[in-house]
Amino acid sequence: MEKIILTGDRPTGRLHLGHYVGSLKRRVELQNSGIYDKIFIMIADAQALTDNADNPEKIRENIIEVALDYLSCGLDPEKSTLFIQSQLPELTELSFYYMNLVTVSRLQRNPTVKAEIQLRNFETSIPVGFFTYPISQAADITAFKATTVPVGEDQLPMIEQAREIVRRFNMTYGDTLVEPEALIPQNEVCCRLPGTDGKAKMSKSLGNCIYLSDTEKEVKQKVMNMFTDPTHLLVSDPGHLEGNAVFTYLDAFCRDEHFAEFLPEYACLDELKAHYQRGGLGDVKVKKLLNNILQAELAPIRERRAMWQKDIPGVYEILRQGSQVARAEAGKTLDDVKRAMRINYFEDGALIRSHVEKYSK
Ligand code: TRP
Repeated sequence: MEKIILTGDRPTGRLHLGHYVGSLKRRVELQNSGIYDKIFIMIADAQALTDNADNPEKIRENIIEVALDYLSCGLDPEKSTLFIQSQLPELTELSFYYMNLVTVSRLQRNPTVKAEIQLRNFETSIPVGFFTYPISQAADITAFKATTVPVGEDQLPMIEQAREIVRRFNMTYGDTLVEPEALIPQNEVCCRLPGTDGKAKMSKSLGNCIYLSDTEKEVKQKVMNMFTDPTHLLVSDPGHLEGNAVFTYLDAFCRDEHFAEFLPEYACLDELKAHYQRGGLGDVKVKKLLNNILQAELAPIRERRAMWQKDIPGVYEILRQGSQVARAEAGKTLDDVKRAMRINYFEDGALIRSHVEKYSK
């Protein structure tokens, strides 16, 4: 069986370090591993509209930002098909048929949807489109017969729901769709990178993000203002690691080689942590290390972004062509689906013949 990746992001803002460690970095590695037959990366504008119906301008403005973030991280249009969800009507059509295979109570149990409803204070006024987006996400995945969906941990319930739809479809109409598998970060801290303020998650509305497109100066400023340990007042005080965002980021980004390069007094992160906990190590020194590490990681991303920003029409052209390629692929699956559901009336000679017979007696 072919190995196929599909994944994507909602274009509601520029992408940040949480996206990067949670999924983007891995995607680029998977792309470059060469073991996948096809890779589809989708800008999920239609899904973003499910809770931004009154603000399409926001989505429209952010498609290019997400595309630039993708390209600057090293997603390569020669190897991966980058496309825009709304340009594939086949996805909407698939969703419509899948809706018959899912119950309202099953959607209500989806933990990610539940959490998002709370977060957005939808309470009793949940848009139907938003409520059903897990079904549309199942269409996104299955349209490409994706075997692998690299995502952050918060997306696991979506993949589970997609798998259920695939099983239900195949059981009802015969083997047609492929059950996808989620691929989540191996490293636990990468599953949920906290904000620079130490809050549970990086989120644009909390203003606690480091963006992939931030300048060197902005990154440094944000790192130097990061939340650490409020009880660590004097350098000599013992410091705590739990809830200390600077150390959480180091867990996500730091490798032993970084010490040789930036802080040779220590051999590895464990030594640095031990010193911090003992007391005698100041926050500024640790923040400077983190800043150096982040700058090293972000510099090539920033360089590639600067290059692509000079060719915006070229980026739109990549998305246009990618959407064409993706559309052809989704069209094949839609044909398979309609054939399996036996709603392909006009290509079904036997159906027409049987009705000829029925009325010729
Ligand atoms: N739900 C994803 C997000 O919030 C975006 C998305 C839409 C997606 N369709 C998908 C991810 C299909 C993986 C596969 O970012």
